[in-house]
Amino acid sequence: MTDSAYVTDQLIAEDIDAYLAQHQHKDMLRFITCGSVDDGKSTLIGRLLYDSKMIFEDQLAALESDSKKLGTQGQEIDFALLVDGLAAEREQGITIDVAYRFFNTEKRKFIVADCPGHEQYTRNMVTGASTADLAVILIDARKGVLVQTRRHSYLCHLIGIRNLVLAVNKMDLVDYDQATYDAIVGDYAQFAKSIGIESFTALPISGFKGDNITALSAQTPWYSGPTLVEHLETVEVQSSRDAEGPLRMPVQWVNRPNLDFRGFAGLIASGSVKPGDAVRVLPSGKTSTVARIVTLDGDLDQAVAGQSVTLTLADEIDCSRGDVIAAADAPPEVADQFEATLVWLNDVPLHVGRGYWLKLGTQTVSVTVQQPKYTVNVNTLEHLAAKTLELNAIGVAELTTDKPLVFEPYATNRTLGGFVLIDKLTNATVAAGMLHFSLRRAQNVHWQAVDITREAHAALKNQKPRVLWFTGLSGSGKSTIANAVEKRLNLMNRHTFLLDGDNVRHGLNKDLGFTEPDRIENIRRVGEVAKLMADAGLIVLTAFISPFRAEREMVRAMLPEGEFIEIFVDTPLEVAEARDVKGLYKKARSGQLKNFTGIDSPYEAPENPDIRVNTVEMTVDEAAEHIVKLLMPLK
Ligand code: ADX
Repeated sequence: MTDSAYVTDQLIAEDIDAYLAQHQHKDMLRFITCGSVDDGKSTLIGRLLYDSKMIFEDQLAALESDSKKLGTQGQEIDFALLVDGLAAEREQGITIDVAYRFFNTEKRKFIVADCPGHEQYTRNMVTGASTADLAVILIDARKGVLVQTRRHSYLCHLIGIRNLVLAVNKMDLVDYDQATYDAIVGDYAQFAKSIGIESFTALPISGFKGDNITALSAQTPWYSGPTLVEHLETVEVQSSRDAEGPLRMPVQWVNRPNLDFRGFAGLIASGSVKPGDAVRVLPSGKTSTVARIVTLDGDLDQAVAGQSVTLTLADEIDCSRGDVIAAADAPPEVADQFEATLVWLNDVPLHVGRGYWLKLGTQTVSVTVQQPKYTVNVNTLEHLAAKTLELNAIGVAELTTDKPLVFEPYATNRTLGGFVLIDKLTNATVAAGMLHFSLRRAQNVHWQAVDITREAHAALKNQKPRVLWFTGLSGSGKSTIANAVEKRLNLMNRHTFLLDGDNVRHGLNKDLGFTEPDRIENIRRVGEVAKLMADAGLIVLTAFISPFRAEREMVRAMLPEGEFIEIFVDTPLEVAEARDVKGLYKKARSGQLKNFTGIDSPYEAPENPDIRVNTVEMTVDEAAEHIVKLLMPLK
């Protein structure tokens, strides 16, 4: 039995409460191990679990069912079998996610994220690294710094892990040679500096033999630093650094059990707070002072980063989920345009210009991403030009949100600078992102209030503004029917304007073609123009294929409820193709015209259009009549 295990046993025997208390106050280090099975990753993790002798029971059960070879807790576990079990589990789980393992020593609890190391699993590594305080970069002493060492280090640095450990493993296989070790550390130091890693801790180890893991090895008398476990036990964790910054508490929910109590609940992301402190609620910017810090165990005199509390304020000010309560004199920024790094996590590539949900802490806003400025080759770290981001790609791009976002640069605050993007239709998490800074153009452009409002414009025209959005295949009859509808409205003294795809593409949108991003941008611009015209009080008719549901919904969301009327000109492809008014289907079929809707570019038909017209059963006049009837009354 090791000394420390002996002490633990004694303590448990003498005073179980003292033992539990000691454990509760032990802090926690989350770390990630980077390297491949060949580098000895499973052996190292096995060694840490084995030496700590504190494997949690459920974890052991999982390993046991995998390998069917391991003993139960309390029995002596065979080291080699434990490593086999871990390696088997890793291989089986390799395409799934990140395996989390737990162990503890007297000083700390640990959670190790074990992620696959190959390039095609970049997304798994980013997931594992996103919650880690420290990364152990494993190097095989016989091989030195490899492409994957660089890739892993770059990713850890990108995700903001400040504690890097370079574990030069398999020292037993190079005869514990100091010169070999020094050369590897020297190589790595040069690389680290080139990508902005300020410091790292290097250790010569053997996971297999246990050198410098829990005890300094007699084989490396030339090494005088800490053992790996000592380092893991004493390194400063993020939460203690966070406690030093200014107060930031993203509000999770408003606690209002009765009319006399209104508290704002959340997890303190950084800094500390005391009753009487001046605070500012963002994005509104309203200020107040903290009245009480309420918890289930009674009020507190102070709370710090990492604690979940409910704050009450001295004044009745607006504050709701998604707002951030911050130190009044050092608030975070508020902006709606940013530069950010994105790691693409989904099989479906980024759609430039399309609306996604952006979730940052408790805030959720709609966002569009511009074409990436560049992507990074994770092996050579070169910057490459790119039109989109595909699975595992890392790129830098500009983002625009529909509402202001309270944020800090990721480098300053991971909670207020890290976000995910979510596909609005499938709800899949498609990207992880890190905000760099806000763009000045957003900061300095304010909304100008005008006296003649959209209501005033509409009242003068004696009508209710509308956007009649015709969608359908090329040749379905959108322009013809829209034209017939506009004529009828004009005879009824309505003020209208028709925006037609072919016409707008000769002017405002003549720079756009028919790729997906161009079609998305086409619809975004037409949507903005239609909105301005509706603001001017007009009844706007638009005739664009507008093949994607997401963009049609985006335009709907830009307008007041009820003003966007989606009209599906429902003509089967065969019928549109048979008509082939402009001869374009023939060209598309013969391969002369690429990306043609319905042929080699998709059309997503409306599922629930406000109005549907079937051009096989109805004439143009009947369709127009039908639409106008459904639009009544027009005031
Ligand atoms: S959209 O997809 O971006 O909404 P839009 O309605 O503006 O398309 O333009 C469609 C018109 O452009 C068609 O009616 C057709 O005359 C012409 N056109 C030229 N090339 C294509 C193509 N590849 N796909 C569809 N329409 C095309």
